[in-house]
Amino acid sequence: MSLLIKNASIVNADKHEKNTQDILCEKGVIVKIAPSIKADNAKTVDAKDMLVMPGLIDMHIHMREPGQEHKETVETGSMSAAKGGFTTVMCMPNTSPVIDNAMIVEGIIKEAKRVGLTNVIPIGAITKGQKDQELVDMMELKEAGCLALSDDGKSVVNSQLMRMALEYAKMADLLLIEHCEDPLLSGDGIMNEGKTSTLLGLKAQPSLSESVIIARDIELIHYLNTKVHIAHVTIKRAVDIIRFAKSQGIQITAEACPHHFTLTDEALNEFDTNAKVNPPLRTPEDVEAIKEGLKDGTLDCIVTDHAPHTREDKELDLDHAAYGMIGLETSVGLTITELVDKKVLTWTQMAERMSHAPARIIGLSQKGSIKEGMDADITIIDPKKEWTITKEDIVSKSKNTPFYGRKLKGRVATTILTGKVVYKET
Ligand code: DOR
Ligand code: ZN
Repeated sequence: MSLLIKNASIVNADKHEKNTQDILCEKGVIVKIAPSIKADNAKTVDAKDMLVMPGLIDMHIHMREPGQEHKETVETGSMSAAKGGFTTVMCMPNTSPVIDNAMIVEGIIKEAKRVGLTNVIPIGAITKGQKDQELVDMMELKEAGCLALSDDGKSVVNSQLMRMALEYAKMADLLLIEHCEDPLLSGDGIMNEGKTSTLLGLKAQPSLSESVIIARDIELIHYLNTKVHIAHVTIKRAVDIIRFAKSQGIQITAEACPHHFTLTDEALNEFDTNAKVNPPLRTPEDVEAIKEGLKDGTLDCIVTDHAPHTREDKELDLDHAAYGMIGLETSVGLTITELVDKKVLTWTQMAERMSHAPARIIGLSQKGSIKEGMDADITIIDPKKEWTITKEDIVSKSKNTPFYGRKLKGRVATTILTGKVVYKET
């Protein structure tokens, strides 16, 4: 069955089309873009007054399957992704067991295909069991369907092991994604070290914990002439270092999360455990630097770090509550409200940071733009829609977000995956 999108105001990373177009999708591919297309047997979606972007790609989420299906499953995570406008998500390996062998990768891909709401690409671990001791079999993971590896949740602290991982990953053509945190500097700090942590009397970790590992990785990739992708950047110093490395031609890419460009550590003033996240919320100066980094492209893409946790995991004191917040369903609204509406990003830059750049970084050559011949993954956004984040609205299995009650502008109206409508706002 073909799908015809009428009156589309197309926003690609390189161009916001002045005139509306029709987009015809057949067999999962965009086959024709023209001012007025007739297709008698096609299902029609009217995109009048909407913005039509390439399907959004989130290269950092936690799906929790296998092993923690009480928090999220491939099915509920896919529902949440489709509602949030994401046609591709990459899920981190800190599951139980850890995603460090082909069987688990294949299982997740198979289940995601059965569900059919979003394209799920598992990220394998760098070290077996994420234990920072022994490398995984990279070719096995690559053949099973991984495009990237990460020990997310922690760094590969052993520099010699990281050196070997970078060398093998280069040979296997796999991207390494580093969660940058020196565990000895972080200690048992649960929030950013600074004025707020002192006032609240909470254990804290210094921003240095993040920048030390980023600087080490830059030295490693410079020495080895290879590349790395830095997960969830949160501090000004990191943005400055990455900007400098890029200016030297070093092959570093990086991402940032909506909560890190929206909230500061003062979100913990009321001891709301939903604001406990790792890396932690930082200072107003850091938030400004993240926005600046996203604006000038030092930070290549926006990811959610969607981290579902149950009420039981969160209804504890701050020391014991789990780290992380959900994010798939609030990412578009927060990005439009905090970045596009405030003139930090243009619409084309939003398409770049949320679709085109991740496609480029991961190497998905058929995704990331709306052009004839590309996959028919398309996100239709109502840019003017005002709404408030409520628990009832969330379809993720977990409800842990500090954003309830926040008013947003801009919402996903329709999500199209390989030419099929997988989400439509009612
Ligand atoms: O806040 C976080 N939650 N940070 C991480 O690195 C891991 C994640 C999780 O898995 O819950
Ligand atoms: Zn992480």
